[in-house]
Amino acid sequence: MRIIVADNYKELSRWSAQFVAGLIRGKPNCVLGLPTGSTPIGIYSELVQLYEQGLDLRYTETFNLDEYVGLPPSHPQSYHSFMQEHLFRHIDHPSSHYHIPDGMAADLEGECQRYEEMILAAGGIDLMVLGLGPNGHIGFNEPDSHLGTKTHVVSLTRETIQANARFFREEKEVPRKAITMGVGSIMQAQEILLVVSGTGKREMLRQALFGEVTTRIPASILQLHPHIVVVTDFSLEPLG
Ligand code: GLP
Repeated sequence: MRIIVADNYKELSRWSAQFVAGLIRGKPNCVLGLPTGSTPIGIYSELVQLYEQGLDLRYTETFNLDEYVGLPPSHPQSYHSFMQEHLFRHIDHPSSHYHIPDGMAADLEGECQRYEEMILAAGGIDLMVLGLGPNGHIGFNEPDSHLGTKTHVVSLTRETIQANARFFREEKEVPRKAITMGVGSIMQAQEILLVVSGTGKREMLRQALFGEVTTRIPASILQLHPHIVVVTDFSLEPLG
């Protein structure tokens, strides 16, 4: 595991975007797994700047980690809208190259299977960029006694609903379910870039990286990945 401690959020974003861009330059048709949330906004903004300076993203295929169930793509809080706003509308990237689960699918189980098959058909994910939920979730894999391995439908925990309520007018508007890549889909990526900002997540990250590997902290499973890079904007001492 490689841990990069950036001086601040701007540096964390810049470093992470350069890391992603390095992969794209070496393999223009690479497959990226992409997150949402507040943390990656700076990375997307840096990537847009790199694109304006000549980074070619036309051949890169992207798979988002998750999407709310029941929000149409046009809903301002859907992850479809998030990706359009922060990345896709700023770059030349054919829409056939980006994928986000369809949270409006009539057959949600079928949609999960379709998504998993598309990842396989693309040759698997080269680099999975991840954020960390305050409760240790990755994607929307919530703490539980067992974790779904493939793309699946999850019920969001009260903590996640409360944490994500800040993006909605009221907490009751936050969807109760989501489609997420499973921990297996995530762990099959060739490489993982875990980006964590803000000292409020320090203890959770320390537990995840240096504590017991447990389904109660889904991010702790990442300890088992052979190629993981963690980027933070705070210092990270191992557990005492
Ligand atoms: C959501 C997403 C996660 C993301 C998490 C943290 O719940 N499903 O993929 O990592 O938010 O978001 P933030 O970066 O806003 O703390």
